[in-house]
Amino acid sequence: MINIITGSSRGVGKALANHFLEKGEKVVGISRQNEIEHPNFTFVKCDFTEKQQLYDLDLSVFADPENYPVRLFNNAGIIGEIKRSHELTLTHYTDVAMVNIVATQFLCSYTLQTFGFDNVDTIVNISSGAGERPVPSWAAYCASKAAVNLFSETLKAEIEELGKSTKIYSIAPGVVDTNMQVAIRNSSPKDFSGQQNFIDLKENDELRTPEEVAILLDEFLREDHTDLGVIHRI
Ligand SMILES: NC(=O)c1ccc[n+]([C@@H]2O[C@H](COP(=O)([O-])OP(=O)(O)OC[C@H]3O[C@@H](n4cnc5c(N)ncnc54)[C@H](OP(=O)(O)O)[C@@H]3O)[C@@H](O)[C@H]2O)c1
Repeated sequence: MINIITGSSRGVGKALANHFLEKGEKVVGISRQNEIEHPNFTFVKCDFTEKQQLYDLDLSVFADPENYPVRLFNNAGIIGEIKRSHELTLTHYTDVAMVNIVATQFLCSYTLQTFGFDNVDTIVNISSGAGERPVPSWAAYCASKAAVNLFSETLKAEIEELGKSTKIYSIAPGVVDTNMQVAIRNSSPKDFSGQQNFIDLKENDELRTPEEVAILLDEFLREDHTDLGVIHRI
């Protein structure tokens, strides 16, 4: 088993990588930075905002039956600037779209092409509850996670048409105590009407730790939930 995990440098992705390494599984981590050193861990540096770096991404060295089956976790994600849509820049919109949507879609496609449907057991795209409801000042993020949800459902429909068995999930991990939440709490109340809710969640100790999310995801993946659809919350 090899786990390809994007956004492995911190937060949920780092906890997931460490969780599978502790279980003795192999992990390929893709992000711009890296803090993990382990004999079963390979770091692949890639900035998903740079289209050329996505073109240059090469995971073919892992196409080896010793590594199969393959699991892909499209976990890297950014919320971008927390402001109302009319105040934001082209760079904000392109960066959120590149990291949250384009890299996720491309890596689904690239992984299936490189390893073959029969060797890719599961693809988990990390989504968000914000992909199912509007959150003022998070418009690009909400739209990106809605895109991840519908892309995942469409990919699943294609896989069914082809008679293949790769499992596809789009999973919202709840509110997790990571740098993304720090950015949300540090936003300006002038720009983000929901800021106090997130400060309260932190003060009331209601956030999940990334390590808890890694355990919940692993537990979720131990059973086949495809009959219940593609979009899940854990
Ligand atoms: N935290 C929450 O409450 C929450 C709630 C719902 C959903 N989620 C989702 O959970 C996932 C993980 O989020 P998190 O909370 O763990 O966030 P985080 O701590 O901010 O980590 C984000 C990860 O994404 C990577 N990343 C960011 N920009 C990148 C780029 N340009 N190219 C490649 N990788 C990039 C980062 O790596 P580098 O900086 O090293 O590149 C980092 O490893 C995201 O998809 C997020 O939308 C989080």
